[in-house]
Amino acid sequence: GKPSLPRKVNSNQSSPKGQVRAAAYNIAVLGAAGGIGQPLSLLLKMSPLVASLNLYDIANVKGVAADLSHCNTPAQVSAFTGFAELPDSLKNVDLIIIPAGVPRKPGMTRDDLFKINAGIVRTLVEAAAEHAPNAWINIISNPVNSTVPIAAEVLKQKGVYNPRKLFGVTTLDVVRANTFVAQKKNLRLIDVDVPVLGGHAGITILPLLSKTRPAVEFSPEEIEELTVRIQNGGTEVVEAKAGAGSATLSMAYAAARFAESCIRALDGDESVYECSFVQSEVTELPFFASRVKLCKEGVEAFINADLNGLTDYEQTALEALKPELKASIEKGINFVKQSL
Ligand code: NAI
Repeated sequence: GKPSLPRKVNSNQSSPKGQVRAAAYNIAVLGAAGGIGQPLSLLLKMSPLVASLNLYDIANVKGVAADLSHCNTPAQVSAFTGFAELPDSLKNVDLIIIPAGVPRKPGMTRDDLFKINAGIVRTLVEAAAEHAPNAWINIISNPVNSTVPIAAEVLKQKGVYNPRKLFGVTTLDVVRANTFVAQKKNLRLIDVDVPVLGGHAGITILPLLSKTRPAVEFSPEEIEELTVRIQNGGTEVVEAKAGAGSATLSMAYAAARFAESCIRALDGDESVYECSFVQSEVTELPFFASRVKLCKEGVEAFINADLNGLTDYEQTALEALKPELKASIEKGINFVKQSL
């Protein structure tokens, strides 16, 4: 639950005078002019670990970049508009973050976005495979349960798939779980950490309240209420925005936290853990969100222990989510295979 501001930088990057220089990583944000893309880019611009920030969108990105470039923080901001400029936006980047696509309106599920967003993610990941085959990829575009398998399939076709470097961003589910639990139990926000497993849609979101740190007792009613609220947190925002989109500010916060964790791991920090939807070994499903330990090469280890000693409620919820999650994964894989 702690905000992941940089605490360490590489000692071998000290300047001759012994001053510690900030690390220098290059990030591309694809869909940077959108509701998530703009505040996410602002938060990344504030990070001393970021050397350059390439902002790509099909429209309106020039102004966003000009605006951000006036902040007196080190990251060099550049704008890339339209498909012809996509390759240049990916040159030499370490991390690609993808919030491109349409968001939900009231009454829509994340799967309703598949028709439009599947193709957008495929196109962007094809370019990533060609122009930045070693970069880490953070997928935000929904439905994450399908767009991550789409990205994996595209990368496989291009012969550059490294499952350790492909991540579906589920951090907002963790952020919401931490906030809602802290409020309910009157805990200090900064202390609370709830692992959230499974996927990123409705009942596939599985908060493991029994694994909350610090240890807390919940009544069965509290478990039911909190679980449902965490699963429907996105819908709460969609309804409040009443047609103007879905979560953007909390999402940008969550995505910036996850990106910062990726960069810290790249930079050699050996104590970086995050929940993320990744190619997985922890259940029989090929993709699954769980806590993973990150290292310079991407995912280093799965925290399998989170799945030990589940409560009956959690075990039942885990079994209940598997068919839906499996179907969403297969839908993504088939989308790429059928278009061959
Ligand atoms: P938005 O509509 O405000 O912004 C999307 C941006 O993507 C626009 O600037 C648009 O021009 C751009 N775009 C569209 N097609 C593109 C293409 N082919 N290439 C590059 N850019 C393209 O939407 P918002 O609110 O920023 O949401 C973006 C996505 O994030 C949605 O799919 C939404 O469902 C998802 N999301 C994911 C969450 C998560 O927890 N993973 C949470 C909230 C939203």
